[in-house]
Amino acid sequence: MELSFPYDSVDISSDNSLLVILDQTQLPAKEVFLQLNEENEIFDAIYTLKVRGAPAIGIAAAFGLCVIMNREKSLNVNSFKTRTLEVISRLNSSRPTAVNLSWALMRMKKKVLSLLEFPDRTTDELLKCMFEEANAIKAEDVEMCGSISEYGLTLLKPGMGVLTHCNAGHLAVSRLGTALGPVYLAKDAGYNIRVYADETRPLLQGSRLTAFELMKYGIDVTLICDNMAYSVMDKGWIDIVFTGCDRIAKNGDVANKIGTAGLAVIAKNMGIPFYILGPSSSIDDNCICGDDIIIEERPSYEVTDLMFKSSVAPRGVKVYNPAFDITRSENITGIITEKGIYKYPYNF
Ligand code: MRU
Repeated sequence: MELSFPYDSVDISSDNSLLVILDQTQLPAKEVFLQLNEENEIFDAIYTLKVRGAPAIGIAAAFGLCVIMNREKSLNVNSFKTRTLEVISRLNSSRPTAVNLSWALMRMKKKVLSLLEFPDRTTDELLKCMFEEANAIKAEDVEMCGSISEYGLTLLKPGMGVLTHCNAGHLAVSRLGTALGPVYLAKDAGYNIRVYADETRPLLQGSRLTAFELMKYGIDVTLICDNMAYSVMDKGWIDIVFTGCDRIAKNGDVANKIGTAGLAVIAKNMGIPFYILGPSSSIDDNCICGDDIIIEERPSYEVTDLMFKSSVAPRGVKVYNPAFDITRSENITGIITEKGIYKYPYNF
């Protein structure tokens, strides 16, 4: 039986007028799709993690730009160009760490500017090419996730225990997933893989999203709090760790969801292989090492209030809430992209 997903978490409506996203903030309670075509609501959807996961926000921004500009297609070419560049810059500021967001938007910008090198372009022509480019970004992501998952599958054997952090499954990409992709292929191949999902404080992507999607597709998943990772490794339940990534520096340092770096250190200490899985579009040539990566800081209420019925911290307490951390390359056994499995030392 071939695994198929009933929907993509990020898509475009058949008449090209709406960005369609599964609202991930409502999971696991409800699967609600939002249809958006307004700049503020698309910015907000990315900022508030209604759509999240590095590849998914890149695709959402590319489609988002198209549907926003589709509403402005009566503008003359010069004004259309100015507005397009404004929207690109605004959407690009919504989340700073996942390079896929700026990678997708810079690709859209390059497309528009290259078309404008020719005289007598019309707004309709520009828009048509923008839609083609956004669709290509998504189609390539589907392909890349397939290859990453195939490479990851070569590391799995029936009965293995896989620990994962945050959500790098089909909800976080176009289809299939990166870190969870091999697990889905293993399910198809009849392996009985056990997944341990870190709940991933403070926004609980592990419990709300990873546990949700794996259960939905019949995969054996056990939810643990982040501080239980050492215990399950110590018990011998974990054979391998798979996580996604938001940005990879040239030396192989990786930014991913806060908590990833500590997991890598524990895994190395215990002799458990630790792999990062992500598309090569996550590699940032402008970052020599992890220190060059900007880490997104998010509001304190996400730690103190957001996931609770009432505040779980004294009013006014100082809070530090970085959304990502840097896993140093020497703690990463391998980095899997659609091009293959790379081993330390890395030189991208
Ligand atoms: O803040 P989020 O939920 O967007 O963070 C997501 C992650 O850290 C994922 O591991 C990463 O984006 C890879 S998704 C394939």
